[in-house]
Amino acid sequence: MPIGAPDYVAFASDVAREAGAVLMRHYRSVGVEYKGSFDTVTAADRASERLVVDRIRARFPAHSIVAEEGGGFDAGDEFTWYVDPLDGTTNFAHGLERFCVSIGLWSRSGGLAGAVFDPVRDDLFAAEVGSGAYLNSRRVRVSDVSELANGLFATGFPSSIRDTNPNLHYYHEVARCTHGVRRTGSAALDLCAVAQGHFDGFWELGLKSWDVGAGLVVLTEAGGEFFALDGGTYRPGGPGVVATNGRVTAALLDLLGDVSSGRRRTPIPSPVA
Ligand code: IPD
Ligand code: CA
Ligand code: CA
Repeated sequence: MPIGAPDYVAFASDVAREAGAVLMRHYRSVGVEYKGSFDTVTAADRASERLVVDRIRARFPAHSIVAEEGGGFDAGDEFTWYVDPLDGTTNFAHGLERFCVSIGLWSRSGGLAGAVFDPVRDDLFAAEVGSGAYLNSRRVRVSDVSELANGLFATGFPSSIRDTNPNLHYYHEVARCTHGVRRTGSAALDLCAVAQGHFDGFWELGLKSWDVGAGLVVLTEAGGEFFALDGGTYRPGGPGVVATNGRVTAALLDLLGDVSSGRRRTPIPSPVA
């Protein structure tokens, strides 16, 4: 890092830890409200977001912020912070211990820094462009699995449009061709799990910029790559993302592309065994 340059990843990491402490204070004692038909929103979301947005506004007043609960700020597109104050809200609300704070910084040309903090495990994934990806100061790297058949994958289903989301069709095909597909309920942690080599790839349709802003920086700094569903360029908030270890990309895009174009590889079997 050049002398005098802001240490974005250290800043994002400190704030993610602070916000994680806020989440833990609410955990299990939280009052749950329902927003729309599926979206569970908690006091924890809002308290965590308030803290993160206040910290960013105080330190980088000329930067934009896109934050899930609406606490954003528009200062143009040169620097944008993507903030998910609680990724894995449904898990959190049900007492399932897989959720995190996700804070990513992007410029017009790409991701700059990301911090994803899991306060239950005290796990901090952090990355700054050009400096590698770290889990609690230990370097992480993607897997070297090169065939779909040997890989473990992850996906998710956006809570607000689960009933109209076509992803079950993609799920069916990928589950048939691989060691399996996990749906853990936190896209940010799923991307970090690809970065650390637990998963070999991840895809999802309809994610928002705050879901992926930090995780994609961690992933690329760990040696992974990401694309739009059709293999084109993906920017946070695009309609579908495919993120991999860099070795299964062509095969996964090919399989997903078959589903997109209506070419199923395997018929759905009869439910009667
Ligand atoms: C959700 C999680 C989930 C993904 C959904 C997201 P939230 O974010 O990342 O894994 O499948 O699409 O909306 O609502 O828990 O912040
Ligand atoms: Ca999210
Ligand atoms: Ca959230």
